[in-house]
Amino acid sequence: MGNEKCPLARDLNKSQKINRISTPLKKSFIYLAIQYSFDFFKNFFQKQSFDNFDFEELTSEYLKIVDNAYTFNLFTAGGILEKDFLLLWCLHKYFRTEEYVESGVFIGSSLYAAISALKDASIIGIDPNLKNLKLPNHLVSKCKLIDDKDFSEINFENISRNKSIVFFDDHINAAERIIESHYKGFEYLIFDDAGGLDDISKRLYPSFPTIPIIMNADFLSPGEEFTWIYKRGLIKDEIFMTWEKKLKKIYQIIKGSKSIRVTAKFDEALINKCLLAKSLIKKSVILPDLGSYILPSKPMEISTNGSKYIVQLI
Ligand SMILES: C[S@@+](CC[C@H](N)C(=O)[O-])C[C@H]1O[C@@H](n2cnc3c(N)ncnc32)[C@H](O)[C@@H]1O
Repeated sequence: MGNEKCPLARDLNKSQKINRISTPLKKSFIYLAIQYSFDFFKNFFQKQSFDNFDFEELTSEYLKIVDNAYTFNLFTAGGILEKDFLLLWCLHKYFRTEEYVESGVFIGSSLYAAISALKDASIIGIDPNLKNLKLPNHLVSKCKLIDDKDFSEINFENISRNKSIVFFDDHINAAERIIESHYKGFEYLIFDDAGGLDDISKRLYPSFPTIPIIMNADFLSPGEEFTWIYKRGLIKDEIFMTWEKKLKKIYQIIKGSKSIRVTAKFDEALINKCLLAKSLIKKSVILPDLGSYILPSKPMEISTNGSKYIVQLI
């Protein structure tokens, strides 16, 4: 009852494989998303004029870039989604990033957001496994790629503190990354996969302790813990595993052990690390979700894409 009031047409689909949006509508929504993102960054950074940007021009530029991203097949499992690609692209355009460091490069979706938005920036990508990168050589050559050192082991020279961004998409440990970044002189950090309890409970590899855990560290006591069940799906969510690990996982699925219990237990050392990380944070905010403006191209895409945080250190 009441269905006739909903102005949607529903037909049996025989041949359409992807979702579609008409070009002018897509353009308008991208325009709005860029404006929305720039407004967010204006509030966050509070330093550059909002009026210096030509949103029409940015929209046209982005539409070409996102077509390339689809050509390189960058919006697939393990990489960032198109809505986050647009957000990061806007961040670089707004902030005019001069030095960009990405820990966790994988197929290169987020790396391409930086490469395509920035002309003369220094771009460093870190990943122990660079074999998954899908970017063509002429773009890869715009970056310095490192696979034999962790972020913590790299000596970044002459960082211009307020013009640099570090993006952690490596699923390691947000508290450690904050402490390391502060020591190395960075001010602005982005974290993926470092959300709250709901977000953590969907992952086998959250960046634990995550940003909300760190920000609420005063409420933690030694001995407290929480546990969640991670249900193994197909290989899609851990596509960056080595073949050895993938085979082990397939074996476990066949054997029937389809879920893993993950436990987060707090001891004094962990709580102190969180408190130290918290003391180094000046501001931490969830980045906007541009999903309202982007129609996913894949039908019924279910992703465990969680909140992303932008953090300013003291
Ligand atoms: C979710 S993927 C990153 C997705 C990527 N940002 C993209 O948009 O394509 C996580 C990546 O972190 C990498 N990784 C694991 N340990 C790492 C470490 N210590 N430092 C940097 N990257 C690491 C994995 O090899 C994997 O490629």
